[in-house]
Amino acid sequence: MSTPNSRLILGLWRIDQWGMNSEQVADLVSACLDLGIDEFDAADIYGDYRCESMFGSALRANPALKSRVKLISKCGIALVSPARPAHRVKHYNTSGEHIIASVERSLTSLGVEKLDLLLIHRPDPLLNADEVAHTFGTLKRDGKVEEFGVSNFLPHQFELLQSRLDQPLSANQVEISLMHLNSLFDGTLDQCQRLNATPQAWSPLAGGAIARANEDTALNRALTRIGHELGITREQLAIAWLLRHPARIRPILGSGKIQHIRELAEAEQVEMDRQVWFELLEAAQGEQVP
Ligand SMILES: NC(=O)c1ccc[n+]([C@@H]2O[C@H](COP(=O)([O-])OP(=O)(O)OC[C@H]3O[C@@H](n4cnc5c(N)ncnc54)[C@H](OP(=O)(O)O)[C@@H]3O)[C@@H](O)[C@H]2O)c1
Repeated sequence: MSTPNSRLILGLWRIDQWGMNSEQVADLVSACLDLGIDEFDAADIYGDYRCESMFGSALRANPALKSRVKLISKCGIALVSPARPAHRVKHYNTSGEHIIASVERSLTSLGVEKLDLLLIHRPDPLLNADEVAHTFGTLKRDGKVEEFGVSNFLPHQFELLQSRLDQPLSANQVEISLMHLNSLFDGTLDQCQRLNATPQAWSPLAGGAIARANEDTALNRALTRIGHELGITREQLAIAWLLRHPARIRPILGSGKIQHIRELAEAEQVEMDRQVWFELLEAAQGEQVP
């Protein structure tokens, strides 16, 4: 029996810190596929514009992986970097020209013909919704991108872009964890649930802070205690807490260690009681719900 697809996604932001060669990254990807994790989250800018080439090299090291992985990329942030000598100031660029050029470079670096999902990385105050909609249409017609979404957009920013598009935005990738709760209360998750768009949670362990548990906080005490009661780790509990949300949040794991990824994949089997969910919310917020 094949493994059902996981709701977890593996993020590639830290790939340049994993200290792995292409074969080792390919082995990690293969192990993720065995767990049912088949989506990988990249961006043009990750690793100072080098991450996509590193992942592409892994796919070239084991070409059988290419047809099995689904790839997310992002564009729209322009870093000041030796890799982009024309950039004088960090800025956002959601012009049609920039989006198309960025996608072309991502496809070349990754060594694939099509992205499964393209996200606009950050809301751009100069975003022209008609221009972005036209550009998405071109990329779709040319077979270069299957689906489109956004990242770090507030509901009104999502709404504006959606109002000009023929196809629904399929995702909003935002920071969500027990240490970053804004999207639960600012309308983001409500909007995703209403429109059946997928909320993708970046830094679901708060960049590792939930694992490190350096401080004696109510949240850290609750994660340890409840994890112990349920017989799971505090990291599994934090991921299970996200998965329990009815908007069907998809956590994007940032680990480069297969033992960590395997452990977190087990969080998908955890059935979380409503009151446990609220106990963790209370600990995270430092007070009871009103
Ligand atoms: N759209 C955006 O604006 C945006 C912004 C930031 C990130 N992202 C995406 O979100 C992804 C995940 O972000 P993140 O890396 O901050 O996620 P995270 O899962 O919150 O943090 C990952 C970090 O936690 C560490 N960690 C320590 N103990 C761990 C344990 N027991 N289990 C798992 N991890 C443990 C990992 O180290 P080890 O490798 O040693 O396990 C890694 O350094 C990124 O790769 C990127 O794709 C998107």
